[in-house]
Amino acid sequence: MKTRLTEMLSIRYPIFQGGMAWVAEHSLAGAVSKAGGLGIIGAGGAPASVVEKELWELKKNTDAPFGLNIMLLSPYVSEIVELAVQYRPAVVTTGAGSPEGYIEKFHSAGIKVIPVIASTALAKRMERCGADAVIAEGCESGGHIGELTTMALVPQVCDAVSIPVIAAGGIADGRGFAAAMMLGAQGIQIGTRFLTAEECVVHEQYKERVLAARDIDSVVTGRSHGHPVRSLRNSMTREYGKLEKEGKSFEELEPLTLGALRAAVVDGDVTNGTVMAGQIAGLVKERLTCAQILEQMTAQAEECLKKGGCWIE
Ligand SMILES: Cc1cc2nc3c(=O)[nH]c(=O)nc-3n(C[C@H](O)[C@H](O)[C@H](O)COP(=O)(O)O)c2cc1C
Repeated sequence: MKTRLTEMLSIRYPIFQGGMAWVAEHSLAGAVSKAGGLGIIGAGGAPASVVEKELWELKKNTDAPFGLNIMLLSPYVSEIVELAVQYRPAVVTTGAGSPEGYIEKFHSAGIKVIPVIASTALAKRMERCGADAVIAEGCESGGHIGELTTMALVPQVCDAVSIPVIAAGGIADGRGFAAAMMLGAQGIQIGTRFLTAEECVVHEQYKERVLAARDIDSVVTGRSHGHPVRSLRNSMTREYGKLEKEGKSFEELEPLTLGALRAAVVDGDVTNGTVMAGQIAGLVKERLTCAQILEQMTAQAEECLKKGGCWIE
């Protein structure tokens, strides 16, 4: 499947594996890149030394293009920007802020800059300041989210900018992939589907929780304080929701989520940890390799696109 994105990055499939804090380390990102998608290391809030180890391991195992996701609120952001310049991923994706101040630096190092955005206004601003593409992420996604759905956001962003748009949020099979392309996207970014991939290092309990999830099992916490996060329902989200309703302050709620993603991903605490996953978790029923995921999704998307939306045989 050739698109502006595959041409820009010399990748086989127009599919990014989302940079996910604690989850997207070298085994997952390396497997996706080797299989022809764009594997992305998620720097999250980790110190530069941890991120460097991941970059080093990934580069040791593959020459394929890869990406680095930088969370701009990280206390280590300036060191991680320097690491990017040193390790030269094909792409830096950014979340939690604007990468405006770093774009020139990345471009001088030959790195494409692709920010995650959740509105047309931000997409336009990113285009004006030199971003190479944008990831339009709908609120169906796992993790930190915006307000608009993928279905509403992607076509509006496609109309608002002329740089390529990558759709994210709620895509886990070829039908979602094809739908994103019909909305005008040049590629997709996937998080939730990769949580159960063979090469993904999340704890076995986390994988089982995703595989058992139903369509209504994800919930958003943190709306009252402007930091909405989507994860699977558990004791932690119930307690958080109860305290939010009681009007507790951000400082009172924070202890419930501090270190909670790590607890779920690394220790397998799916009761009190944050089991980030999107609304599409209910569709994820298999453990496949990254290569199988990319192949199956693309074959199914091509089949859907060939039918062109006409379903009467
Ligand atoms: C466990 C988890 C952690 C995530 N962490 C990050 C992150 O650190 N930075 C980021 O930009 N996006 C993060 N995301 C969002 C993904 O990169 C991706 O855009 C999103 O998962 C796509 O939606 P989907 O989950 O419906 O596939 C995370 C998502 C999940 C599920």
